[in-house]
Amino acid sequence: MKIALFASGTGSNVKNIIKHFEKNKNVEIAGVFSNKANAGALLHAIEAEIPTYVFSNQELNDVNQLFKSIENHDLDLIVLAGFLLKIPKLFISKFEGKIINLHPSLLPKFGGKGMYGAHVHRAVLSANELETGITIHYVNENYDEGAVIKQFKTALTESDNLESVQEKIKLLEKTYFPITIEELTNKL
Ligand code: GRF
Repeated sequence: MKIALFASGTGSNVKNIIKHFEKNKNVEIAGVFSNKANAGALLHAIEAEIPTYVFSNQELNDVNQLFKSIENHDLDLIVLAGFLLKIPKLFISKFEGKIINLHPSLLPKFGGKGMYGAHVHRAVLSANELETGITIHYVNENYDEGAVIKQFKTALTESDNLESVQEKIKLLEKTYFPITIEELTNKL
């Protein structure tokens, strides 16, 4: 079973996923792909001796270029872990049902264009939500609208602020994202 991770940011999720699958010899992380040459996610990959690939937005949209490096790996699953660019239609059709994303809210609430990172948590706090959480879902051509695979919740209180919400979400991500990926790979 081969998976690829796509990430644009610091890569705490990439780090957790890599660590989790070190114990599972059935799953190989074939590469960490990023649109940012300075993404922390790439450093976690390099440390774990996993191949890294950096591509531009233009390359992401030019199927032939990026696909060459991706198709060589014969991937079973592509995991978006804090990947901020929109995945083009053609790309999705090549990997139908094989791309999943992690979103830091309980979709369909607080999803869509511009809803990432702290923007999501600020919106959750402004709406005085009683709970928030994470959604792991399939990727389709609209931001954050693909079928939900799993959601995990955490309660909010009046004393919550941006920092505490971020911590609660990170904990959910760390606890549940790698095992949800593992469950999916077991079913493939
Ligand atoms: C995570 O909160 C994830 O839910 C979202 O982007 C963030 C990435 O964080 N999609 P990191 O780069 O894995 O630390």
